[in-house]
Amino acid sequence: MFCVKDFEAAAREKLDPVHADFIAGGARDEITVRANEEAFARLRLLPRVLRGRAVPGLDVTLLGGHARLPVLLSPTAFHKLVDPEGELATARAAAAAGAVMIASMASTVAVGEIADAARAAAGPGETVPLWFQLYLQPDPEITEALVRRATDAGCTALVVTVDSPVLGASERNRRNGFHDLPAGLRCENLVDLRDGEFGHVRQIAMSPEFSWEHITWLRSVTELPILLKGVLHPEDARLAVRHGVSGLLLSNHGGRQLDTVPATLEALPAIVAAVAGRIPVLLDGGVRRGTDAVKALALGARAVGIGRPVMWALAADGEKGVRRLLELLREEIEDALALCGAAGLDELTPDLVRPAWSGPL
Ligand code: FNR
Repeated sequence: MFCVKDFEAAAREKLDPVHADFIAGGARDEITVRANEEAFARLRLLPRVLRGRAVPGLDVTLLGGHARLPVLLSPTAFHKLVDPEGELATARAAAAAGAVMIASMASTVAVGEIADAARAAAGPGETVPLWFQLYLQPDPEITEALVRRATDAGCTALVVTVDSPVLGASERNRRNGFHDLPAGLRCENLVDLRDGEFGHVRQIAMSPEFSWEHITWLRSVTELPILLKGVLHPEDARLAVRHGVSGLLLSNHGGRQLDTVPATLEALPAIVAAVAGRIPVLLDGGVRRGTDAVKALALGARAVGIGRPVMWALAADGEKGVRRLLELLREEIEDALALCGAAGLDELTPDLVRPAWSGPL
């Protein structure tokens, strides 16, 4: 395995094609899925030379916590679909790399167990680099119970996904008849939230009725910092700041919700301008190379998230695969930083990127 794409190919070979499609696919025509990667390819790096810099470090502060890598593991559901250890394997690999893992509400291991695995694998004295992704639920008691489970587990932030008033329509899943977890697997965070609830994915309710008031309410029931995942409109970024949100994860759900929305990299400059340094902006969608991470950071993202690559690496080689994936990305980012003449992530500035040449006219 020498790059992220190697894991994609290896995962395809190993997985049931229906599950491989579930991971790779997106909404409708998958225009946004492709746009995410294409946007990185269209941007060029413009390196500086002879700057007398030291070997670059990759440490980053995220919401007051420390990470050793500016790459987060974005929340992805159902890790046991691709590996028997599921999220336990992912958590160990993330903790060993000092990377923040965002556990999905729809994980196939309970968040408490994910946290234990992360703690056991983290460096001495390190806090557990684990955040929890939440879909707000129409019944506030259910939301509160989930927040309690995440808090008791030791998660240090909540990532509220706000781009899902309804579930995005994957035509691949429809054609393949993939609607459910196979027998034996369940969404462990959802078990026993109410009498007679057994962790069925259908328990996750999506609703277009959520509003900013629910964010205000959530802030009143938890001390944890709240990030919003899936804000694309600059006006919503301003509203997020006004509602006391601690950060944004700029995301289009990897093109799995509304098709034809902009690539996240395309949306980044306007979101960064709207937020004006008041809260950190993170970005996911289409990050496949160290140079992709460097481009997003140069345009103002504090860190980047990866979704599909984690699933591919986990499918290809379990915990070892995810470890290797994170090592490769570390190497690629260090390499790109050095070649850009930057000694650290804070030396990545917008002058280091420019659009690809579109011809002399
Ligand atoms: C996701 N994503 C996601 N997001 C979320 O908020 N909750 C979730 O449970 C999931 N589940 C999920 C499953 C799978 C298989 C994929 C591929 C994605 C979206 C994810 O967090 C992230 O936004 C994108 O995956 C980022 O794009 P890339 O890196 O996959 O291109």
